[in-house]
Amino acid sequence: MQIQDTAAVVTGGGSGIGRAMAVALAERGCSVVVADIDTAGGQATVESILAAGGRAVFHRCDVRHTEDVANTIAAAVEHYGRFDIMCNNAGVGGEDLFGDDDAGWKRMVDINFTAMIEGTRIAGREMRRRGGGGVVVNTASMGGLVPMAEAPVYAATKAGIIHFTRSLAGLAAECGVRVNAICPTYTATPLFTDVEGERSEELKAQVGGILAPEDVAAGLIELVEDDTRAGAIMRVTVRGGRDYAR
Ligand SMILES: NC(=O)c1ccc[n+]([C@@H]2O[C@H](COP(=O)([O-])OP(=O)(O)OC[C@H]3O[C@@H](n4cnc5c(N)ncnc54)[C@H](O)[C@@H]3O)[C@@H](O)[C@H]2O)c1
Repeated sequence: MQIQDTAAVVTGGGSGIGRAMAVALAERGCSVVVADIDTAGGQATVESILAAGGRAVFHRCDVRHTEDVANTIAAAVEHYGRFDIMCNNAGVGGEDLFGDDDAGWKRMVDINFTAMIEGTRIAGREMRRRGGGGVVVNTASMGGLVPMAEAPVYAATKAGIIHFTRSLAGLAAECGVRVNAICPTYTATPLFTDVEGERSEELKAQVGGILAPEDVAAGLIELVEDDTRAGAIMRVTVRGGRDYAR
């Protein structure tokens, strides 16, 4: 898909990887709806896009709520007259499975996994209805491809996204909607800092370094532009750059 003159929704666009994705899309002529629960962060992303001459609006959205997601997609159509790209990117880290917060792991499943399905479902339905095809990119993680002893629920949510995405490969032939996922290793964002804290040096050494959010955004651009990718699982690593898991 050529990105120029398309319209996208980026969830979690108020920080980190989502912000870099929104900026990268806007730089290529895409109009972006930045969706987040963090209004200040989302507006900061919009301001930086506008300052660079791009097009963007902020829409407050809690991805756990179907109505919020549907309204955010409707906002793309309302503002820009089209809807081509859905980045289901919002996610949380930090878990303590055997700690006292009984609701913590369920909250993580709701945001990292259930909301990706819901975002794909609502976006896919709208793209089908509009008849012009589209691209959905789900932000998974390398933690979905290899076990994470320190974050088993996080890893499971990301593995679920990968299997869900792969299972939707046939949608491209059926209605022109390509669903792909991207799996970065550790990336320099507030999520990484919050989760890994003092272990960050050790983790950096394990994976060969920390990605910049822009490295992940470059992967998103490839997945949107490459019309052959459907049900594809892209890895983004410091050591290997971008490649695809089988
Ligand atoms: N940082 C890493 O090391 C890393 C590595 C692999 C994958 N990821 C994934 O990348 C994605 C983005 O993470 P990040 O590192 O940029 O983190 P981040 O904390 O910088 O950004 C996450 C954004 O999601 C938003 N968000 C959280 N809950 C939300 C909700 N219910 N509704 C709407 N927005 C919500 C936050 O407000 C924030 O702006 C996540 O899915 C994460 O799992 C991150």
